[in-house]
Amino acid sequence: MTKLAGWTSLGLVAGCAAALGLAGCDSQKTKHTIGFSQCTVKEPWRVLFNQRLTEAAANHPEVRLITLDADDKTEEQVAQVRTFIRQKVDAILISPKEAPGLTPVVEEATAAGIPVILLDRGVNTDQYASFIGGDNMEIGRAAGREAVRLLGGAGKAAGLIYEICGGLASPPAQERRDGFHEIVEAEPGISVIGGLDADWKKDRAQTITQDALKTHPDIKLVYAHNDPMAHGAYLAAKAAGRADQIMFLGIDANPDEGQRWVRAGELTATFAYPTPGEKGLEVALDILAGKPVEKRYTLPTRVFTRESVERGGDPVD
Ligand code: FRU
Repeated sequence: MTKLAGWTSLGLVAGCAAALGLAGCDSQKTKHTIGFSQCTVKEPWRVLFNQRLTEAAANHPEVRLITLDADDKTEEQVAQVRTFIRQKVDAILISPKEAPGLTPVVEEATAAGIPVILLDRGVNTDQYASFIGGDNMEIGRAAGREAVRLLGGAGKAAGLIYEICGGLASPPAQERRDGFHEIVEAEPGISVIGGLDADWKKDRAQTITQDALKTHPDIKLVYAHNDPMAHGAYLAAKAAGRADQIMFLGIDANPDEGQRWVRAGELTATFAYPTPGEKGLEVALDILAGKPVEKRYTLPTRVFTRESVERGGDPVD
């Protein structure tokens, strides 16, 4: 029980959590201990991600999944991965807060012989076992094509776009920005302003949009790198009496968030960004079973508009 007590003090222990309060896990039954460091649970997409992963792990009684929340702090997440390395877990799942700060510890874990599976956000090294996540360049491009359509169509599109970025030290924000710009910059009638880092947070997006609306009376469309920020911008525009004149694009399409806001006419469109936890667990178990795995698994996207939301969205073109 000593070792288990050490584990419990780390945070939420799923898998054999129910047994912990009683006699502890039967170590005979636990074949694999998998450490999972989640960068934050402040956003609903991450809560859903953890929930789905925990549910998937519950179907594997031989797995002990240790889930930790780094509370949006890089140093905390580095410390969590180092603890997993010290404890010699069998595999590490990590969804990094940002790339530069987490790269060295991912390399340390790999050097220690522990397979590292990166979920949703990558790091700046190839010293990991597998990456599972969406294609953020493609999602950015799809959002760009949607913006061009909404602003009048290729060759004719015109208007001012206000962009709100996620954490710019993370690859998804960089790629969502780059893919979008690749498309809209081909349209001479479109200009993009903004581009501030709102760290994926709704309240920050709301505040910066409030300011932008004061200086720019002509914003036609807001492109935010996730739905919470798109909705924060919508709330700012609503408070300024301008929500009806502006279109809002987001990313994630959680059923309880983005899809609901699209249905309510608050967001114009959102793009699905599936949570990668279940696939991450499957890949970890394949590695532990000695099966070959891919270096990258790309999860698909879909676009949700008011017309398509009821049928579960449409494939992107
Ligand atoms: C949650 C989140 C999602 C976004 C993803 C990108 O923390 O901001 O909204 O799609 O991370 O890594």
